[in-house]
Amino acid sequence: MPSSNEKYVLVTGGAGYIGSHTVVELIQEGYTPVVADNCCNATKGKDQRLPESIKRIKQITGKDVLFYEYDLLDKEKLESLFQKYKFFAAIHFAGLKSVTESIQKPMEYYDVNLGATINLIECMKEYGVTRVVFSSSATVYGPPQKLPVDENHQVGKGLTNPYGKTKFFIEEIFRDLAKAETGWHIALLRYFNPVGSHITGLIGEDPQGIPNNLMPYVSQVAIGRLPYLNVYGNDYETHDGTGVRDFIHVVDLAKGHIAALNKMDQTDGCQAFNLGTGTGYSVLEAVAAFEKASGKKVPYKFAPRRPGDLGNVHANPNLALKFLEWRADKTLEDMCVDLWRWQSMNPKGYEITPDPQ
Ligand code: WQD
Repeated sequence: MPSSNEKYVLVTGGAGYIGSHTVVELIQEGYTPVVADNCCNATKGKDQRLPESIKRIKQITGKDVLFYEYDLLDKEKLESLFQKYKFFAAIHFAGLKSVTESIQKPMEYYDVNLGATINLIECMKEYGVTRVVFSSSATVYGPPQKLPVDENHQVGKGLTNPYGKTKFFIEEIFRDLAKAETGWHIALLRYFNPVGSHITGLIGEDPQGIPNNLMPYVSQVAIGRLPYLNVYGNDYETHDGTGVRDFIHVVDLAKGHIAALNKMDQTDGCQAFNLGTGTGYSVLEAVAAFEKASGKKVPYKFAPRRPGDLGNVHANPNLALKFLEWRADKTLEDMCVDLWRWQSMNPKGYEITPDPQ
């Protein structure tokens, strides 16, 4: 039975990559996470009741995670959690997140990502929960007019895919909510490029199918699951012609959510924060850093630019430092060392490789 002195935090999508790393940090900060996840992107191990990522959080923290296999589109199920727990806050990760898939299935992305958010907000209003951290994305900036990108940069212009548009539309929902009603504390965290894994190697990024993103693809080439990397474009206006991104360690990113929770009562309303390092690295620099960290060669071939890709994107992270007293402190080398530890300990991700007969 829930106890009154616990600080319960609803974590939607908490079985996912960034969600699971944030659950670990919540526990270590003294919060009590309650995870609601429909497991559409999660792998279950031998214990079919729990996603493998949630099971392993206990190995890291020693604590059982309160987990509910609920879909946020099922408002009755979601509301039952608000009836059971007096939530201090919500952290909202749940949603579909493939850029390419969103282009093929726009209505599914609008239905799920927006519908889930509206259900969540309606439950929060009904049960008086006024603190929410939203998993947004640098993708809402579209093609940056000025670098580094800061939070005053225009958003919502030149978005090239429905996934990115859902992030922008959800930000707009939160901004309009905070304009209409006082007493809300809303932090929109705009992630740049999350990479890496928890230092134990027990939890990490486990994309379904062929990875869309660079570093999980690189690590799967290194472990032998993929033959070589396609480098999409070497004719960008960058120092080596390949795309430049602001890679941030997933644990730094997770800690950014804790910082936002800890500081959010100091300001009313809705505020966006960049969660990046402020430093950009090119694709070839990231590949070289991974080869050094893993000791593995990563063969690659140059390929045409990927439609919708930008050349150079990196953050101005100073607002988060000023208001959240948060800054990323892990290096690209840390990201690659931790990513390789996860991949080499889990060649097939969370898929349980059967014990050798
Ligand atoms: C990074 C660079 C590619 C794969 C996306 C989403 C964004 C966010 C992070 C969720 C680019 C190059 C990639 C490959 C390559 N996700 N690349 N070969 O596109 O910056 O951002 O993920 O919030 O919303 O848009 O990340 O890792 O896909 O690409 O050369 O096989 O690596 O061209 O320059 P991106 P990415």
